[in-house]
Amino acid sequence: MSDLTHLQHIRQEMIATTTRIYLNAGTFGPLPACVPAAMQERMQQEWQNGRLGASGYESMSAIYDAARKGAAHLLNAHVDEIALTDNTGEGLNIISFGIDWHEGDEVITTNHEHISLLAPLYQLRDRYGIRIRVADIGEKGERPVLKPVADLVTPRTRLISLSHVSWMTGARLNISEVGYMGREWGIPVLIDGAQSAGAIPLDMHALNVDFYAIPMQKWLCGPDGTGALYARQGALSYVKSTYVGYWSVKHEEGIDWELLEKAQRFEVGGRQTAALAGQVAALNWLDAVAGYDWIYERIATLSAYAYHALLEIPGLFMLTPRPGESGLLAFRLEGKNDAEVVKVLNEKHNIFIRNIPSTLALRISTGFYNTEEEIDTVVRALREM
Ligand SMILES: Cc1ncc(COP(=O)(O)O)c(C=O)c1O
Repeated sequence: MSDLTHLQHIRQEMIATTTRIYLNAGTFGPLPACVPAAMQERMQQEWQNGRLGASGYESMSAIYDAARKGAAHLLNAHVDEIALTDNTGEGLNIISFGIDWHEGDEVITTNHEHISLLAPLYQLRDRYGIRIRVADIGEKGERPVLKPVADLVTPRTRLISLSHVSWMTGARLNISEVGYMGREWGIPVLIDGAQSAGAIPLDMHALNVDFYAIPMQKWLCGPDGTGALYARQGALSYVKSTYVGYWSVKHEEGIDWELLEKAQRFEVGGRQTAALAGQVAALNWLDAVAGYDWIYERIATLSAYAYHALLEIPGLFMLTPRPGESGLLAFRLEGKNDAEVVKVLNEKHNIFIRNIPSTLALRISTGFYNTEEEIDTVVRALREM
């Protein structure tokens, strides 16, 4: 199949991409047809068979297992290193609240973080009196991250928490250097993978970080309310479980009450099984039909294409430091109100992007399903503003 035919096939499966210019996977990705189909099928089965008996439980567990396996494959991790979550924020909370904090302890983060990563840290500051230290990696995220983070390490540092890809500019941070440093000094490293999972190749063991939280609803084009947390096998001792339940503990003869010795200890109880069926379908489809390598290549190529095309617009200030390193591009248009630009693109041109109010920026997500022609259309529309 030629690349173009492949792309057309993908777009037909993701029907929302054919009826508008869909440039906001950074918020919600478009669903492939297999996702609603798998969710409906699961609901139908539950409705018909009543979720009863051993077979009901087995089929539910099989879907949970498949969801963990799909995430492990995506992340190049062991399945025992995966906990299912509802979203990125849940994974970030599990780890942030799991550290044994004492007054005066410190956490290091950066000036490019999303509120979902920061909110637990502020809560911990107010509850335990910890200190939040912010590494400045530059307005665009252009500075190599290791030094600004390393400069803030003290004997009180208990956690380093930062993104792989900046949600504000699309800068990709060299988190493996931070991972190695954390390993050397015995400081756990927690990564927000909201803008990386499904957009760039990920290999947990090569990245060498301890914890990595991902969503399914963004670049992985899965249902909302699904996500995963990678917890490196050797890093479990860094964190205590804040919430536990049926799914967190061993169910073995003679063992009364013991947490599982794997990431699943962070799961509490029953989840939305139909949503997990949708997650499994999305991951299988991305892997087997679209192809992860093709996806990453396509996102990077389109990002670079859009980066250079946008730079031709007079009065455009590019906030993305380097082309092609993630799926996000952010920029300001001189003299234009960011929210107004989003509104006009949406209402007049049927183009969906988002703005970032705190930086007055516009943000485009180049998905693997987008085309160069769509980028050209956006650039033309922005020029006309
Ligand atoms: C960097 C970053 N972290 C966290 C989130 C929150 O993601 P979720 O809704 O999966 O918790 C987002 C997106 O909204 C994000 O861009």
